[in-house]
Amino acid sequence: MGIFKNIFGKNKNNEALNHSSVPRHIAVIMDGNGRWAKKRGMPRSAGHAVGAETFRTIATYCKDIGVQYFTVYAFSTENWKRPEQEVNALMDLFRKYLTEAAETMFESGVAVRVIGDLSPLPEDIKKQIAEVDKIADKLGENAATASLCINYGGRDEIKNAVKKIAEKVKVGEINPEDITENTISKYLYTAKMPDPDLIIRPSGEIRTSNFLLWQSAYSEYYFTDVLWPDFKTSDMDDAINAFNLRNRRFGGV
Ligand code: FPP
Repeated sequence: MGIFKNIFGKNKNNEALNHSSVPRHIAVIMDGNGRWAKKRGMPRSAGHAVGAETFRTIATYCKDIGVQYFTVYAFSTENWKRPEQEVNALMDLFRKYLTEAAETMFESGVAVRVIGDLSPLPEDIKKQIAEVDKIADKLGENAATASLCINYGGRDEIKNAVKKIAEKVKVGEINPEDITENTISKYLYTAKMPDPDLIIRPSGEIRTSNFLLWQSAYSEYYFTDVLWPDFKTSDMDDAINAFNLRNRRFGGV
Protein backbone atom coordinates (compact mmCIF):
# COMPACT_ATOMS: atom_id res chain seq x y z
CA MET A 1 0.00 0.00 0.00
CA GLY A 2 1.03 3.57 -0.58
CA ILE A 3 2.84 5.27 -3.39
CA PHE A 4 4.13 7.85 -0.99
CA LYS A 5 4.84 5.44 1.83
CA ASN A 6 8.42 4.85 0.85
CA ILE A 7 9.24 8.25 -0.48
CA PHE A 8 10.81 9.60 2.62
CA GLY A 9 13.05 6.84 3.81
CA LYS A 10 16.67 6.87 4.92
CA ASN A 11 19.65 7.60 2.73
CA LYS A 12 20.69 4.59 0.75
CA ASN A 13 24.35 5.50 0.34
CA ASN A 14 24.29 4.50 -3.31
CA GLU A 15 27.76 3.85 -4.72
CA ALA A 16 26.82 4.94 -8.24
CA LEU A 17 25.93 8.36 -7.00
CA ASN A 18 28.69 10.87 -7.30
CA HIS A 19 26.79 14.07 -6.70
CA SER A 20 28.90 17.00 -5.71
CA SER A 21 25.61 18.70 -5.01
CA VAL A 22 22.06 17.52 -5.20
CA PRO A 23 19.64 19.86 -6.97
CA ARG A 24 17.14 21.40 -4.60
CA HIS A 25 14.31 21.10 -7.11
CA ILE A 26 14.07 18.49 -9.86
CA ALA A 27 11.16 18.43 -12.32
CA VAL A 28 10.32 15.70 -14.81
CA ILE A 29 8.22 15.50 -17.97
CA MET A 30 7.12 11.86 -17.65
CA ASP A 31 7.13 11.10 -21.37
CA GLY A 32 7.13 7.89 -23.39
CA ASN A 33 4.44 5.86 -21.60
CA GLY A 34 2.41 5.34 -24.78
CA ARG A 35 5.42 4.16 -26.81
CA TRP A 36 6.50 1.87 -23.99
CA ALA A 37 3.06 0.20 -24.04
CA LYS A 38 2.86 0.06 -27.84
CA LYS A 39 6.20 -1.77 -28.05
CA ARG A 40 4.66 -4.47 -25.85
CA GLY A 41 1.30 -4.60 -27.61
CA MET A 42 -0.38 -3.18 -24.51
CA PRO A 43 -2.94 -0.36 -24.19
CA ARG A 44 -1.52 3.12 -23.56
CA SER A 45 -3.11 3.11 -20.11
CA ALA A 46 -0.79 0.23 -19.14
CA GLY A 47 2.15 2.50 -19.95
CA HIS A 48 0.73 5.19 -17.67
CA ALA A 49 0.23 2.66 -14.86
CA VAL A 50 3.89 1.58 -15.09
CA GLY A 51 4.87 5.26 -15.43
CA ALA A 52 3.10 5.95 -12.15
CA GLU A 53 5.13 3.16 -10.52
CA THR A 54 8.26 4.79 -11.91
CA PHE A 55 7.11 8.02 -10.31
CA ARG A 56 6.92 6.20 -6.98
CA THR A 57 10.42 4.76 -7.35
CA ILE A 58 12.04 7.98 -8.52
CA ALA A 59 10.23 10.20 -6.00
CA THR A 60 11.41 7.85 -3.24
CA TYR A 61 14.94 7.99 -4.56
CA CYS A 62 14.90 11.79 -4.80
CA LYS A 63 13.82 12.00 -1.19
CA ASP A 64 16.54 9.51 -0.19
CA ILE A 65 19.29 11.60 -1.75
CA GLY A 66 18.03 14.89 -0.34
CA VAL A 67 16.13 16.56 -3.18
CA GLN A 68 13.70 18.90 -1.46
CA TYR A 69 11.23 19.45 -4.29
CA PHE A 70 10.27 16.87 -6.88
CA THR A 71 7.71 17.99 -9.45
CA VAL A 72 6.21 15.94 -12.28
CA TYR A 73 4.06 16.72 -15.30
CA ALA A 74 1.22 14.25 -14.91
CA PHE A 75 -1.54 15.76 -17.08
CA SER A 76 -1.35 18.81 -19.32
CA THR A 77 -4.09 21.27 -20.26
CA GLU A 78 -3.87 19.69 -23.73
CA ASN A 79 -4.22 16.07 -22.56
CA TRP A 80 -8.05 16.32 -22.48
CA LYS A 81 -7.84 15.83 -26.28
CA ARG A 82 -6.74 12.22 -25.78
CA PRO A 83 -9.25 9.36 -26.18
CA GLU A 84 -11.81 9.31 -23.37
CA GLN A 85 -10.66 5.88 -22.25
CA GLU A 86 -7.08 7.12 -21.77
CA VAL A 87 -8.21 10.26 -19.91
CA ASN A 88 -10.40 8.11 -17.65
CA ALA A 89 -7.53 5.72 -16.97
CA LEU A 90 -5.31 8.65 -15.96
CA MET A 91 -8.05 10.04 -13.67
CA ASP A 92 -8.34 6.60 -12.05
CA LEU A 93 -4.60 6.57 -11.44
CA PHE A 94 -4.87 9.99 -9.77
CA ARG A 95 -7.73 8.68 -7.59
CA LYS A 96 -5.66 5.68 -6.56
CA TYR A 97 -2.48 7.57 -5.78
CA LEU A 98 -4.23 10.43 -3.99
CA THR A 99 -6.01 7.91 -1.75
CA GLU A 100 -2.67 6.36 -0.89
CA ALA A 101 -1.06 9.75 -0.35
CA ALA A 102 -3.78 10.76 2.14
CA GLU A 103 -3.27 7.51 4.03
CA THR A 104 0.49 7.63 4.25
CA MET A 105 1.61 11.25 3.92
CA PHE A 106 1.39 12.27 7.54
CA GLU A 107 3.39 9.30 8.70
CA SER A 108 6.03 9.78 5.98
CA GLY A 109 6.28 13.52 6.65
CA VAL A 110 6.15 14.56 3.04
CA ALA A 111 3.99 17.30 1.58
CA VAL A 112 2.15 16.00 -1.46
CA ARG A 113 0.74 18.81 -3.60
CA VAL A 114 -1.26 18.97 -6.78
CA ILE A 115 -0.81 22.05 -8.92
CA GLY A 116 -2.58 23.25 -12.04
CA ASP A 117 -6.05 24.54 -12.92
CA LEU A 118 -8.03 22.06 -10.88
CA SER A 119 -11.46 23.50 -11.75
CA PRO A 120 -12.41 21.06 -14.56
CA LEU A 121 -11.37 17.95 -12.62
CA PRO A 122 -14.07 15.51 -11.43
CA GLU A 123 -15.55 16.59 -8.07
CA ASP A 124 -14.35 13.51 -6.20
CA ILE A 125 -10.74 14.15 -7.27
CA LYS A 126 -11.04 17.81 -6.23
CA LYS A 127 -12.18 16.62 -2.79
CA GLN A 128 -9.23 14.24 -2.55
CA ILE A 129 -6.84 17.04 -3.49
CA ALA A 130 -8.34 19.32 -0.83
CA GLU A 131 -7.91 16.57 1.75
CA VAL A 132 -4.29 15.92 0.73
CA ASP A 133 -3.65 19.68 0.82
CA LYS A 134 -4.92 19.94 4.39
CA ILE A 135 -2.55 17.20 5.53
CA ALA A 136 0.33 18.77 3.61
CA ASP A 137 -0.35 22.14 5.29
CA LYS A 138 0.10 20.49 8.68
CA LEU A 139 3.54 19.25 7.72
CA GLY A 140 4.91 22.78 7.58
CA GLU A 141 7.02 24.70 5.10
CA ASN A 142 10.22 22.73 5.52
CA ALA A 143 8.79 19.37 4.59
CA ALA A 144 10.03 17.79 1.40
CA THR A 145 7.47 18.25 -1.33
CA ALA A 146 6.30 16.00 -4.16
CA SER A 147 4.09 17.91 -6.63
CA LEU A 148 1.89 16.45 -9.33
CA CYS A 149 1.05 18.91 -12.10
CA ILE A 150 -2.48 18.06 -13.23
CA ASN A 151 -4.35 20.05 -15.88
CA TYR A 152 -1.22 22.15 -15.93
CA GLY A 153 -0.06 24.40 -18.77
CA GLY A 154 2.68 26.98 -18.49
CA ARG A 155 0.90 29.56 -20.63
CA ASP A 156 -2.39 28.92 -18.85
CA GLU A 157 -0.63 29.41 -15.50
CA ILE A 158 0.86 32.73 -16.60
CA LYS A 159 -2.50 33.86 -18.05
CA ASN A 160 -4.21 33.04 -14.73
CA ALA A 161 -1.54 34.95 -12.80
CA VAL A 162 -1.99 37.98 -15.07
CA LYS A 163 -5.76 37.86 -14.51
CA LYS A 164 -5.33 37.78 -10.72
CA ILE A 165 -2.83 40.64 -10.78
CA ALA A 166 -5.14 42.66 -13.08
CA GLU A 167 -7.99 42.18 -10.58
CA LYS A 168 -5.76 43.53 -7.80
CA VAL A 169 -4.79 46.49 -9.96
CA LYS A 170 -8.47 47.13 -10.69
CA VAL A 171 -9.38 47.41 -7.00
CA GLY A 172 -6.28 49.47 -6.24
CA GLU A 173 -4.44 46.80 -4.25
CA ILE A 174 -1.50 46.71 -6.64
CA ASN A 175 0.11 49.68 -8.34
CA PRO A 176 1.19 48.66 -11.89
CA GLU A 177 4.52 50.37 -11.33
CA ASP A 178 5.22 48.08 -8.40
CA ILE A 179 4.85 44.87 -10.42
CA THR A 180 8.14 43.00 -10.45
CA GLU A 181 9.17 39.56 -11.66
CA ASN A 182 8.74 38.48 -8.07
CA THR A 183 5.11 39.66 -8.11
CA ILE A 184 4.44 37.38 -11.07
CA SER A 185 6.21 34.43 -9.42
CA LYS A 186 4.00 34.90 -6.37
CA TYR A 187 0.83 34.45 -8.44
CA LEU A 188 1.95 31.20 -10.08
CA TYR A 189 0.94 27.75 -8.81
CA THR A 190 4.55 27.30 -7.72
CA ALA A 191 4.58 30.43 -5.53
CA LYS A 192 5.91 28.58 -2.51
CA MET A 193 8.73 26.70 -4.21
CA PRO A 194 12.06 27.65 -5.72
CA ASP A 195 12.44 27.43 -9.50
CA PRO A 196 13.55 24.01 -10.76
CA ASP A 197 17.32 23.57 -10.96
CA LEU A 198 17.06 20.56 -13.24
CA ILE A 199 14.31 19.55 -15.67
CA ILE A 200 14.48 16.03 -17.09
CA ARG A 201 12.69 14.89 -20.24
CA PRO A 202 12.95 11.22 -21.12
CA SER A 203 11.80 9.48 -24.34
CA GLY A 204 13.99 11.35 -26.83
CA GLU A 205 11.70 14.37 -27.25
CA ILE A 206 13.58 17.65 -27.06
CA ARG A 207 11.05 20.34 -26.25
CA THR A 208 9.52 21.91 -23.18
CA SER A 209 5.83 21.24 -24.04
CA ASN A 210 4.47 24.14 -22.00
CA PHE A 211 5.98 22.89 -18.73
CA LEU A 212 7.05 25.44 -16.09
CA LEU A 213 7.66 28.11 -18.73
CA TRP A 214 8.26 31.00 -16.35
CA GLN A 215 10.06 28.94 -13.73
CA SER A 216 12.51 27.30 -16.18
CA ALA A 217 14.24 30.55 -17.17
CA TYR A 218 17.54 29.32 -15.71
CA SER A 219 16.87 25.59 -15.30
CA GLU A 220 19.30 23.07 -16.69
CA TYR A 221 17.66 20.59 -19.07
CA TYR A 222 18.58 16.93 -19.34
CA PHE A 223 17.25 14.81 -22.19
CA THR A 224 17.52 11.05 -22.49
CA ASP A 225 16.14 8.45 -24.92
CA VAL A 226 15.00 6.20 -22.07
CA LEU A 227 11.18 5.92 -21.96
CA TRP A 228 9.71 7.04 -18.63
CA PRO A 229 8.43 3.58 -17.57
CA ASP A 230 12.02 2.29 -18.04
CA PHE A 231 13.62 5.20 -16.16
CA LYS A 232 15.74 3.88 -13.28
CA THR A 233 17.48 5.41 -10.29
CA SER A 234 20.73 5.04 -12.29
CA ASP A 235 19.19 7.32 -14.96
CA MET A 236 18.52 9.86 -12.22
CA ASP A 237 22.18 9.52 -11.15
CA ASP A 238 23.25 10.22 -14.76
CA ALA A 239 21.02 13.30 -14.89
CA ILE A 240 22.31 14.67 -11.59
CA ASN A 241 25.91 13.94 -12.50
CA ALA A 242 25.42 15.77 -15.81
CA PHE A 243 23.81 18.64 -13.91
CA ASN A 244 26.86 18.87 -11.67
CA LEU A 245 29.14 19.24 -14.68
CA ARG A 246 27.20 22.25 -15.95
CA ASN A 247 28.43 25.74 -15.29
CA ARG A 248 25.39 27.73 -14.20
CA ARG A 249 26.03 31.42 -14.63
CA PHE A 250 22.47 32.81 -14.46
CA GLY A 251 23.36 35.35 -17.13
CA GLY A 252 26.61 36.37 -15.45
CA VAL A 253 30.15 35.45 -16.53
C1 FPP B 1 3.24 11.42 -21.56
O1 FPP B 1 3.55 10.21 -22.23
C2 FPP B 1 2.64 11.12 -20.28
C3 FPP B 1 1.43 11.55 -19.88
C4 FPP B 1 0.55 12.39 -20.71
C5 FPP B 1 0.85 11.16 -18.57
C6 FPP B 1 1.85 10.97 -17.46
C7 FPP B 1 1.14 10.37 -16.32
C8 FPP B 1 1.60 9.34 -15.58
C9 FPP B 1 2.94 8.71 -15.71
C10 FPP B 1 0.72 8.82 -14.49
C11 FPP B 1 1.02 9.64 -13.31
C12 FPP B 1 0.19 9.34 -12.19
C13 FPP B 1 0.65 9.55 -10.95
C14 FPP B 1 -0.29 9.39 -9.84
C15 FPP B 1 2.04 9.94 -10.66
P1 FPP B 1 2.78 9.84 -23.56
O2 FPP B 1 1.52 9.15 -23.20
O3 FPP B 1 2.56 11.08 -24.37
O4 FPP B 1 3.78 8.88 -24.25
P2 FPP B 1 4.08 8.77 -25.80
O5 FPP B 1 4.71 10.07 -26.22
O6 FPP B 1 5.04 7.62 -25.88
O7 FPP B 1 2.78 8.49 -26.50
